[in-house]
Amino acid sequence: MEKIYALASDHGGYELKEEIKRHFDEIGIKYIDFGTNSTASVDYPEYAAKVCRAIIGGECGAGILCCGTGIGMSIAANKFDGIRAAVASDTFSVRYTRMHNDANVLCLGGRVVGVGLALELCDVFVSTEFEGGRHAKRVGMITELESTHR
Ligand code: RB5
Repeated sequence: MEKIYALASDHGGYELKEEIKRHFDEIGIKYIDFGTNSTASVDYPEYAAKVCRAIIGGECGAGILCCGTGIGMSIAANKFDGIRAAVASDTFSVRYTRMHNDANVLCLGGRVVGVGLALELCDVFVSTEFEGGRHAKRVGMITELESTHR
């Protein structure tokens, strides 16, 4: 089944989120926009939570979160069991966090990366598969930490 991406941002990532939506419309990637809907100041954990709940609930298969740095969004998203959020600003890291960590949320900094690079990061994120194998064991160990260390 075709993956639907959950997108959200705070005010610091709003313009980048809109660019990602335009790009996904152009290349035919399905998404649901969970806000925010303007550059008015909002609290990023609220938007991280919306995307994580959509993924955990099965409405979406993965997500992209944009804030000023991508960091606040990633810290908030990684509080949710089953979420593996990675903040990245280079294609190598995005490729490997999909291949090795099975990252299901990409966090981008709207004040860090330019639009051209950000869209390339999204392209890599949506087109790279998890390798499984020895990495599945390690991802399983991360999942175990959710019950042993919370
Ligand atoms: C908002 O000013 C900013 O703190 C937020 O977008 C993000 O960068 C937090 O990590």
